[in-house]
Amino acid sequence: MKTFYIETFGCQMNVHDSEKVIGTLMAEGYSQVATPESADLVLYNTCSIRDKAEQKVFSRLQQFKKDHGAGKVFGVLGCVAQQEGHRVFEKAPHVGLVCGSASYNSLPQMLVQLESGARRVTGLSLETEDTFETPFARRDNPHRAYLTIIEGCDKACAYCVVPMTRGPERSRTSDSVIREAHSLAEAGYTEIQLLGQNVNSYRDPSPAGWDFAALLGAMGKVPGIRRVRFTTSHPRDFGKEIIDAMDENPVLCNHVHLPVQSGSTRVLDRMQRLYTRDEYMRRIEWMKRSPRNIAITTDIIVGFPGETDEDFEATMNLLDECGYDSVFSFKYSQRPNTPALRYEDHVPEPVKSARLTALQEKQRTIQIKQNAAAVGTVQEALVEGFNKATGQWIGRTSQNKTLNFIRPREGGESLIGRYLDVQVTRSGPNSLVGESVN
Ligand code: 5AD
Ligand code: SF4
Repeated sequence: MKTFYIETFGCQMNVHDSEKVIGTLMAEGYSQVATPESADLVLYNTCSIRDKAEQKVFSRLQQFKKDHGAGKVFGVLGCVAQQEGHRVFEKAPHVGLVCGSASYNSLPQMLVQLESGARRVTGLSLETEDTFETPFARRDNPHRAYLTIIEGCDKACAYCVVPMTRGPERSRTSDSVIREAHSLAEAGYTEIQLLGQNVNSYRDPSPAGWDFAALLGAMGKVPGIRRVRFTTSHPRDFGKEIIDAMDENPVLCNHVHLPVQSGSTRVLDRMQRLYTRDEYMRRIEWMKRSPRNIAITTDIIVGFPGETDEDFEATMNLLDECGYDSVFSFKYSQRPNTPALRYEDHVPEPVKSARLTALQEKQRTIQIKQNAAAVGTVQEALVEGFNKATGQWIGRTSQNKTLNFIRPREGGESLIGRYLDVQVTRSGPNSLVGESVN
């Protein structure tokens, strides 16, 4: 029996790619094992969004350098593979496979080449119309399924490697997306998370020609699916019709992740984000005016080249204006082949660190306030687990918040996968606590 081990770094797109890669390998007769030591084929599905993420894979490969002689094949998949290409072989000569996400359809052929003794095999072309569709995806979570609707990215944000690592935008046909949603429902999934680097620019390539809002409308009607989420949105392509679709359809969850990156229009311009602060705020206002109680989350980069104290202040007061439910914040990290390499006015490391700390502290107080507003409400939670240490069930709300709760008349049966109404009794900066009421 041929065995493989896979470790995944990076975003949900990568996590789902790995689920598809695992299914593809199993269909080729491989079986998955839990440790690299016991595997014939050791795969790393990599991320290169920031320098730290990229370094991780090379440190992993270093650890197992000596195992190459033992007949193991090492493979680097994903964004570092695409970005570094043949340079991976120079940095880690024991690697045998380098394959970017746009080439996963060819994995079966590449495996055959490796099995018949090829020393170095690559899949690095980005000139593709392909999306990686497979009936074999091995999904990890039994209730919530990822579903890719669009791959790649056509934007050119000055800091970002993704257009280079994942290639141009390719949408799947609406027919194939809806078919997959139906088969997920039949397999027992109740929540679907639509994935794409920029879901808002989804365009059905078939004659039906649906846009993203039309797709959302249809997703909301798939029998058995109780929750639909989507990520990630680009503010430039985020139209009012998406909020309208959410207003009309309770299956669409009360949550939008809308990365802003900076609160300063001057910095946004240098980042090539294609919107101003005012244009971004208009989208926030649509959401705040919606009858749905939409949670809003974002991504922010501090210390982008040329960011002044005043620019940073603009980001800080944007936090107050938006009242985010959660923020993912990062120090700017210089990346290969990105447009921002032309900027020389770098922000010193200690300034970046101080800004990140100040931003995170401010956001913490905002979150305490945001979550406190939920105390006293009843929210539906999808039960995802049980915490033995605290005796609490772990649930997730439509707003994508963690809601830990107890069940007063505990029946002893597992609640995992069920939807329960929970009264929120307490709150913290990162989660809610409550008691089930049904
Ligand atoms: N440096 C720091 N953060 C980055 N991101 C993307 N590229 C970089 C970079 N070069 C952040 C953005 C993006 C999130 C996924 O990662 O905020 O939305
Ligand atoms: Fe990392 Fe971006 Fe690639 Fe996702 S798409 S794995 S975040 S570099």
